Amino acid sequence: METIGEGREGSLVLIKQGAEARIFESTFLGRKCIVKERFSKKYRHPSLDAKITLKRLNAEARCTTKARRLGVVTPVLYAVDPLLQTLTFEYVEGSSAKDIFLDFGSNGIVEERMNDIAKQIGDAIAKLHDGGLIHGDLTTSNMLIQNGTNQLVLIDFGLSFTSTLPEDKAVDLYVLERALLSMHSSCGNVMDRILTAYRKSSKQWSSTWNKLAQVRQRGRKRTMVG
Ligand SMILES: Nc1ncnc2c1ncn2[C@@H]1O[C@H](COP(=O)(O)OP(=O)(O)OP(=O)(O)O)[C@@H](O)[C@H]1O
Ligand SMILES: [Mg+2]
Repeated sequence: METIGEGREGSLVLIKQGAEARIFESTFLGRKCIVKERFSKKYRHPSLDAKITLKRLNAEARCTTKARRLGVVTPVLYAVDPLLQTLTFEYVEGSSAKDIFLDFGSNGIVEERMNDIAKQIGDAIAKLHDGGLIHGDLTTSNMLIQNGTNQLVLIDFGLSFTSTLPEDKAVDLYVLERALLSMHSSCGNVMDRILTAYRKSSKQWSSTWNKLAQVRQRGRKRTMVG
């Protein structure tokens, strides 16, 4: 773990180094926070790179805020720093849905908890989609479950965009379906539970559902060819 400026307000502790961003734990006005820093891609031309990074930083900030407006719980965005290329978010105390589902996989599913989480996931995605927002990276690591309240908090809107096309919504759901199959196959029919909640919540269910059938079929053909 890397620590810069230990112990004082604003000190940064690196908790995750990804391909596109570094995640730090820090404090913001006395509150625990997450600082997400987008860094440069060395292979890109510097001025183009700066433009792309800034665009994505702003897009993530805008989409996180839009999701909140649509009634989906996300971390509060405390600050955007275009020079340092950072977003500062409220720190969510909890576990990722990934860790909870992996635990269910090894120690047995707690049905009530599983149903509650799946319902929250389905409801949240329906709210996003009905509001014309596509998450773009629906995996169980981008879903946090808050300690105590068990509230689902959606994070990582770095690949999000606005769209009302059923195709985009279907692909969003398909990405989650594939992620669940590969990562949480021992958790049974989580996707069915999520889709049941989504169907009840979304007013545009039938067009999305028809597209999802097509997207799945395309995916199957690709798997057979590849
Ligand atoms: N607000 C938050 N509160 C607590 N933990 C967080 C918060 N935001 C992010 N994290 C933790 O940091 C991890 C990475 O954050 P995030 O998904 O935003 O970045 P990323 O680099 O885009 O990751 P990915 O590998 O999914 O692309 C999350 O999976 C989560 O464990
Ligand atoms: Mg992520």
